[in-house]
Amino acid sequence: MAAPVPRFLPADRVRNLPPYIFARVFALRDGALAQGRRVYDMGVGNPDGRPPAHVVQALVDAVGDPAANVHRYSTFDGSPALRRAIAHWYERRFGVALAPDAQTLPLIGSKEGLANLMRAYVNRGDVVIIPSPCYPAYFGAARLCEAEIHEMELSEARGYQPDFDAIPADVAGRAKLLLLNYPNNPTGGVCELGLYERALAFCDRHGILLVSDIAYSELSLDPACSPPSALQVPGAAERVVEFQSLSKSHNMAGWRVGFVAGCAEVVATLGRLKSNVDFSLFGAIQAAAAAALTGDQSICRDNAALYRRRRDLVLETWRALGWRLEPPRATMYVWGHVPRAYGDDDWAFVHDLFAKTGVLLSPGSGFGVYGKGCVRASLGLEESALRDAMAACAAADLDWRG
Ligand SMILES: Cc1ncc(COP(=O)(O)O)c(C=O)c1O
Repeated sequence: MAAPVPRFLPADRVRNLPPYIFARVFALRDGALAQGRRVYDMGVGNPDGRPPAHVVQALVDAVGDPAANVHRYSTFDGSPALRRAIAHWYERRFGVALAPDAQTLPLIGSKEGLANLMRAYVNRGDVVIIPSPCYPAYFGAARLCEAEIHEMELSEARGYQPDFDAIPADVAGRAKLLLLNYPNNPTGGVCELGLYERALAFCDRHGILLVSDIAYSELSLDPACSPPSALQVPGAAERVVEFQSLSKSHNMAGWRVGFVAGCAEVVATLGRLKSNVDFSLFGAIQAAAAAALTGDQSICRDNAALYRRRRDLVLETWRALGWRLEPPRATMYVWGHVPRAYGDDDWAFVHDLFAKTGVLLSPGSGFGVYGKGCVRASLGLEESALRDAMAACAAADLDWRG
């Protein structure tokens, strides 16, 4: 059926926007649920756990506390207490000292902040350098700025790390921003501080703003590995910005809370833009986020242990069926090439698997050109459902080899 002709024509930048990949995955899921089918949703990275009790209590207390008065508009830049808590977290976790008022800014989720950062810095036709495969929201945010997107390949052979020398000089010369995301969604790849040093040297040479996204920094599946922050590179806090999220670390995805830290000039510019479009977060969520960042962090270790168990369960089943997959070192995802019988057609595998088992994965082509032929499985599914999902896979008539 042809799409209806709109009465009010959206702006070109919106008309030219492809549907968000997860909206298509959700549509598949919701169609099956409407038919009463059992669905094992391993498509979207949506943690199934709860935030720590003391964080929920901080929200409840703030809502009821007349002195806190969280029902009025917040200040544009977020509460001073939350900004201090962000700086405290950076100091405790990475040994990085930040000025709370100048070098931190609370966000309504890091997705919001990343999109607004691009809006603040990217003119039509500017180049944005994005790792590929990557978190799909980077593409939408860049497209909304009518940017030219340069996809920087993250190959398995290079440990999912980019080769900055492979970026053509004319691309580097026109680039405004370069994004890095470690631990990496969707590949589960990790990096050491040296990668940030090399990235920063490249960005300094070309006058590019380095943007780091560490949404999964607390989800190392290897207890001996503690992912670094780009801001640990000497001098980086003066010229890099880094995005962090409480969605995955503290099971607070629905609360919409994240933050940006680093270069004061960029933080101020983003704050100026945001003051024209939003009013920061609900005050009670800010109080709870401050409690999450300053309080006991055992939730992060518990989450990592939980996803490690689930990763091992999933890999044990799929590998026994003949599917060649490597264990991710971090994040809540398993990433790999689709079985040989499907060639590079990740959507065909996603549809076939879903039809035969109810197990829903995300097609790799939605994560960038270098994601084509791969799929991502999210581990945000509680354990008994995950076991049922694996039993359904084992019983399915499907060629898993390769
Ligand atoms: C790499 C990466 N960055 C940022 C985000 C967005 O997180 P938030 O919930 O804070 O918007 C996600 C969410 O999945 C992500 O995978």
